[in-house]
Amino acid sequence: MSRNMDTELDLDKMDLEQGPPQEEPRRQYYFMAKCRQYAKQLEEELGHRPTFFVQTFGCQMNARDSEKLTGILEQIGYVPAQDEQADFVVYNTCTVRENANQRVYGRLGKLHHYKKDNPHMRIALCGCMMQESHVVEKLKSSYGFVDIVFGTHNVYKLAELMADRQESGGMIVDIWPEADKIVEELPNRHKYAFKSGVNISFGCNNFCSYCIVPYVRGRERSRSPEDIVREIEKLSREGVVEIMLLGQNVNSYGKDLKSPMSFARLLTRIEKIEGIQRIRFMTSHPKDLSEELIAVMKASRKICRHLHLPVQSGSTRVLKAMNRKYTKEQYLELVERIRREIPDISLTTDIIVGFPGETWEDFEETLDVVRRARYDSAFTFLYSKRTGTLAASMENQVPEEEMKRRFDVLLEVVQRIGREMSSRFTGTVQEVLVEEVNAQDETLVTGRMGNNLLVHFPGDATLIGKLVPVRLEECKGFYYMGKKA
Ligand code: SAH
Ligand code: SF4
Ligand code: F3S
Repeated sequence: MSRNMDTELDLDKMDLEQGPPQEEPRRQYYFMAKCRQYAKQLEEELGHRPTFFVQTFGCQMNARDSEKLTGILEQIGYVPAQDEQADFVVYNTCTVRENANQRVYGRLGKLHHYKKDNPHMRIALCGCMMQESHVVEKLKSSYGFVDIVFGTHNVYKLAELMADRQESGGMIVDIWPEADKIVEELPNRHKYAFKSGVNISFGCNNFCSYCIVPYVRGRERSRSPEDIVREIEKLSREGVVEIMLLGQNVNSYGKDLKSPMSFARLLTRIEKIEGIQRIRFMTSHPKDLSEELIAVMKASRKICRHLHLPVQSGSTRVLKAMNRKYTKEQYLELVERIRREIPDISLTTDIIVGFPGETWEDFEETLDVVRRARYDSAFTFLYSKRTGTLAASMENQVPEEEMKRRFDVLLEVVQRIGREMSSRFTGTVQEVLVEEVNAQDETLVTGRMGNNLLVHFPGDATLIGKLVPVRLEECKGFYYMGKKA
């Protein structure tokens, strides 16, 4: 694990008499210093350093936000705990599907129980679920033991909210409908020393009719290329070799900047950063994937041969109702073009089964796309009705049983093709970035190929974080066994 803070800070020397400054990020440094004092008092009462636990639900965006929360908590002086029996617990929530939502309520009961045993315990909830007013109402009325509730736009304010909670004594709720700014230069901890996610844009403007993300993450905002490059240069100095560029739709990056810049050009710029050996990105909306991007990927030595290209449905009629803005034919043409230019590319996708009005014929179109596009893997989802989205008010919601029947048929096809596609590298030598010593067998290490497939091969901890050429000997479905080449 490695630490990262742009400005060298000495929180202990900060003058707290003067009151908080207005401008960010200095305001947050002030509150971190303040919380550090509270943490010291707490340490005396508890007899040990106060501990924290951050539980992340949902996607890479949330994972990245959790790293920021972790960075702040560590600056304040909290130490990581192994589980939720900690002095400060954060649930960073997801609401993209109903089951993600239910899991959080389920686990809150357990937290309440822990809190009864440890009155010093504080519980914070943040993330996408909190951006929904009916959730916050429910928390206020039935979950009074929760201490802090905040959303997706003010993650950087954690220290200030903790200080508010300390001073007020009651539940603090701070939810913003939109982000007013992007605050840079806050503490941050990336989970692995050798790889890190990097936000390039926040929010989404696409309003796919089934999707709640634009409502809970706000409008699309790109970070400036200078800030992105500076962050990656810093990560590189700290030993990071692989970065994952994150955005709901990376292909529309930069359109909202004062001097607009394409995603492809941003990649070209990032490619030049010394020390960075692998570049990944997520997610690509098919409607915005440019010729320029294909050309840049083709010419690049660092960009991984992997594209996550969510199709959602293979039926043009359903795609239109989903507001995806491409047809089945346009999607397949795009896949063909990509495969022609970059033959060794791995394609992965997301598919929703049971969108309102989806017929068996529509579903067969989806199967057809899967067979033709030949994905290395696919995330398949049962359609989930999200309050406030256009699709939620559509008629012809598909019955649960029928949805599940289709889902099972799809899964079988997806997995069969995935296995076939994954095994096509057998016998070749591939660069593998080693992530860890294998949990089951200590004589093996585990790493990932450029296309994200896992590889196990004989080795030891000294290889962690290194790119190693490995001969792939045997494909076991969705992973390989290999030997150092
Ligand atoms: N921005 C990304 C997706 C973010 S959500 C993109 O456009 O590709 C991740 C995936 O969750 C989506 O691709 C979609 O397949 C799925 N998803 C989103 N809303 C859903 C819903 N209401 N029901 C089921 N699956 C959903
Ligand atoms: Fe949701 Fe569509 Fe935006 Fe992806 S592009 S986050 S699916 S609205
Ligand atoms: Fe979930 Fe929010 Fe991501 S709703 S999928 S955590 S953007």
